[in-house]
Amino acid sequence: MKKNKNRLFSALFDKYMERAELKNTELVGITGVEPETVSRWIQGYQIPIRDNLLKCIEPFGFPAQEDGLRECNEFFAEAGYSLTQEEKRKYFPRKTKYDWGTQRQAKFFVGRTETLEKLKKWVIEDKCGLVSIVGFGGVGKTSLSIELAGIGKTALSGQLAQDIGDNFDYVIWRSLSNAPPIEEILSDMIKFISEQQDVESSRHTIKKLLNYLKKYRCLLILDNVEDIFQSGKPADQYREKHKEYARLFEQLGEVPHQSCLLLNSRIVPPEIKDLNNHYAEVQLLRLEGLNEQEGQKLFNQINDHFAHSPEFDTQWKNIMENSKGNPFVLERFAASIKGTGNVSKFFHELSAESIKYTGNVSKFFNKLSLEAFLQKIFDNLSDTEQELVYWLSINREFVSQDELKNDLLFFNSKEQLNNTRCSSFL
Ligand SMILES: Nc1ncnc2c1ncn2[C@@H]1O[C@H](COP(=O)(O)OP(=O)(O)OP(=O)(O)O)[C@@H](O)[C@H]1O
Ligand SMILES: [Mg+2]
Repeated sequence: MKKNKNRLFSALFDKYMERAELKNTELVGITGVEPETVSRWIQGYQIPIRDNLLKCIEPFGFPAQEDGLRECNEFFAEAGYSLTQEEKRKYFPRKTKYDWGTQRQAKFFVGRTETLEKLKKWVIEDKCGLVSIVGFGGVGKTSLSIELAGIGKTALSGQLAQDIGDNFDYVIWRSLSNAPPIEEILSDMIKFISEQQDVESSRHTIKKLLNYLKKYRCLLILDNVEDIFQSGKPADQYREKHKEYARLFEQLGEVPHQSCLLLNSRIVPPEIKDLNNHYAEVQLLRLEGLNEQEGQKLFNQINDHFAHSPEFDTQWKNIMENSKGNPFVLERFAASIKGTGNVSKFFHELSAESIKYTGNVSKFFNKLSLEAFLQKIFDNLSDTEQELVYWLSINREFVSQDELKNDLLFFNSKEQLNNTRCSSFL
């Protein structure tokens, strides 16, 4: 009995052989099968096994990127197969374009293997449109703890973007510290994705960005999202001028598109909370500190003597407990211990200081990290905000807005005090 012939497969096979000017004998050499088998493939009486069909991709010389991928997908589908994500990336690599904005690549990155895998699954396999990495779930005075900052959100998303960037046509990174108006961010993104063709900022709307995100596969990363929330209000209220960001997040979570917006924030954006309950494509990752092993690796990168010092066994546990695995704090500890040039001396000074300040080593560690943490926040304030902090601390006690206005030296207009955007920290 004669076997059924797959005419469409045969036609495609023939077409690609001809286009690449390939001879049957060459295909025999490439795949290692008998010449009769190749003939049966061409005539459509036999479908090659998947491995052999993969061997044909390169010799068939499909066009690069999207067009070639489309052709190849159809060809494989006709044979009853489909290409995996890895195979697509291998045979049809995208020419990803990157705009890292102000973001610098980290010197080194340790651990977080499982977390990275989880994020990759959400972004690549599950095609999540909106993902948020949150380092701490609240704000206010009690949050002046070492857990608030430096937990590694920026470093983690930087590593993720490097790892998976080539799954996208465009990767763009922007920081929302200093709370830029949304128009600025929309314009930046649209100009970049349109490759500077779409430059009329006044026409740059959320809807337009969405159209680009449907057309191209883009990875957008917004860092320091907490800066668009109001100070002194419940943690998740937007500053008046930034309410449109809420709409951007909602739209990207609700409307289908083929891109991903990744948000790094100390506060959970309210839209994420709501959408996360309704849509599988919206995900929230609460980032914790590094584990013992990861913390040790990070520490050793900065200070490789400590691991071999006699104090290691007694003090390492102490360091992990007091840093809670927070990479920012671990970096400070490692540098301080290194700075003394000698571990015993550091611990001697540490205990002397700790007795002076707090009476115990654990609290001293917290004091150290809190100071570093406060310095980091202070450095990120605007000139206006820094001046406010100076005057508040000089006054030391409760001070009215009018008194503050009298104090200020550098404000162009004291009226600005009413309108000044203050960091959530103030
Ligand atoms: N996995 C890691 N490996 C190596 N270094 C890390 C890692 N995670 C964080 N760090 C380092 O720790 C410091 C703090 O990390 P990062 O800036 O990412 O924290 P963050 O959560 O973004 O803080 P913030 O809320 O202030 O923005 C940085 O110097 C960063 O390079
Ligand atoms: Mg950060």
